[in-house]
Amino acid sequence: MCAVIFNNMQNNFISVADLNKDDILSLLADAAKFEANPNQRLLEGKVVATLFFEPSTRTRLSFETAANRLGARVIGFSDPNSSSTSKGETLKDTIKMVSNYADVIVMRHFLEGAARYASEITDVPIINAGDGANQHPSQTMLDLYSIWKTQGTLDNIDITMVGDLKYGRTVHSLVQAMSFFNPKFHFIAPDLLRMPNGYRDFCKRHDLYFDEQEDFNEEAINRTDILYMTRVQRERFSDPREYEQVKNVYCLRRSMLEHAKSNLRVLHPLPRVNEIAYDVDDSDKAYYFQQAQNGLYARQAIICRMLNIKLEQ
Ligand code: CP
Repeated sequence: MCAVIFNNMQNNFISVADLNKDDILSLLADAAKFEANPNQRLLEGKVVATLFFEPSTRTRLSFETAANRLGARVIGFSDPNSSSTSKGETLKDTIKMVSNYADVIVMRHFLEGAARYASEITDVPIINAGDGANQHPSQTMLDLYSIWKTQGTLDNIDITMVGDLKYGRTVHSLVQAMSFFNPKFHFIAPDLLRMPNGYRDFCKRHDLYFDEQEDFNEEAINRTDILYMTRVQRERFSDPREYEQVKNVYCLRRSMLEHAKSNLRVLHPLPRVNEIAYDVDDSDKAYYFQQAQNGLYARQAIICRMLNIKLEQ
């Protein structure tokens, strides 16, 4: 092991926008090494804090598994009501306190920008585990790793994003990350959940192909390499009537995959509600459960990078 500083990352993992192509490729290379050998004592003596102000299954448990398998101890909370937040303690004070105890802080928060704010009030590395509808950069690393594993490359991939593209932080982060690899995007969403202007402008600025449609049909499925399904997220709507309008807008069924390309894989950050029928699970095109497993290796790579721990070749 030796200490190193990597490219753009300032020992915080806040947004995909902070990463360059080399950062991404080297993290993916490390993820592959962790997949080959997930149990290493690289973090002996370290403490990892996981502060989850919003519910989570995969992100929290995979970060905690990542830390445990590398020999670190884990502290934190999965429910802010069990912390002094419920007594009125501010996020600033919470971060300052936890910084006294932990070597790295993994934080999910419902407010956009909360992770960046936390990184400005502590020298302890902050890993953004999702901030509102903004970013979910560690999910992006496992998404990229999954695309790379299933397609053999990240270059020139045709990727179709379906569902809640307005509030979906995973698709926002993925659009930015894929921009280094000449993707072709198809955005499928109802008008109410259209990909935000900021990300469409990002595609234009980076000369990335994208098109948009509301229909989710077999023609759209048959042309693509990656079908990235997303959940319509009830918790992001301020008007419940709007959620009711779009909650069941799309559902992928196994019969719809009959004429898909052989390399097509269905990804989903999960949890799903009803946008992927259960009969898809047994299809060789379904990859969402393996995708979640890849999160363990990607997050091992991220934690080590934040602590400047370099893997042996
Ligand atoms: N993909 C994802 O963020 O899942 P969780 O909400 O369960 O962490």
